[in-house]
Amino acid sequence: MAEIIIVDNEAEAGKLYADCVADLIRTKPDAVLGLATGSSPLAAYKALAAKVEAEGIDVSHVRGFALDEYLGLPLEHPESYHSTIHRTVVEPLGLNPELVHVPGDVLDGAPIEDGDKVAHAGEAYDAAIEAAGGIDVQILGIGADGHIGFNEPGSSLASGTRVKTLVQQTRVDNARFFDDDIDQVPTHCITQGVGTILKARHLVLLAFGENKAEAIAQTVEGGISAFCPASALQLHPHATIIVDEAAASQL
Ligand code: GLP
Repeated sequence: MAEIIIVDNEAEAGKLYADCVADLIRTKPDAVLGLATGSSPLAAYKALAAKVEAEGIDVSHVRGFALDEYLGLPLEHPESYHSTIHRTVVEPLGLNPELVHVPGDVLDGAPIEDGDKVAHAGEAYDAAIEAAGGIDVQILGIGADGHIGFNEPGSSLASGTRVKTLVQQTRVDNARFFDDDIDQVPTHCITQGVGTILKARHLVLLAFGENKAEAIAQTVEGGISAFCPASALQLHPHATIIVDEAAASQL
């Protein structure tokens, strides 16, 4: 069963993450961090960056693997997850960009029609994570429908990294990053699978606000089901779920 921590606000959640990761880096300077996009982890990255600076923690050997990426966007597009991870994590923390990987890096905007390249990218990404010794701490947000990464409801709980079609609701939700124009939102993505995510040694899922309350209740108290991919956290021996009162309101 996952450990549930209810905090007053995002800053407090961020501090818990920062303390955990700072302790990890002190004992393992080349720690492997699992990184996520979205608004939920931002306070955690900010708290970690502040701690790294205040305490002079050496992060030059820290490695990172991001959860997911859109397909068909050039890496330098401001909304690609490659750009987002570099802007929100790599730069503020002062990580070595060469040591941080995003699943679309090898595709660099290749069209989905480039079947061969795309088909092998997922396996190659999982192999790279394994070669790095696995992920030490994976940070996660959650979609209102219980998705983690881009594993939408119905995703196999044993899945590896692979190409997926984005569901319409996620494209609608993410249109705000693309001039509110859904036609600009990519139709496909590459995402770590639920099975990939479960291999990380410690999972830290962050959720804030009322609109995450139902997904959190399903994740924690619902049955383990592909209809709520985050419910797979119940299978993990070390999962920490950090929520505010609003996100915890249906528990
Ligand atoms: C996207 C990302 C997920 C993220 C989710 C929720 O779909 N692929 O990794 O968890 O959005 O985002 P937010 O934290 O902004 O609510």
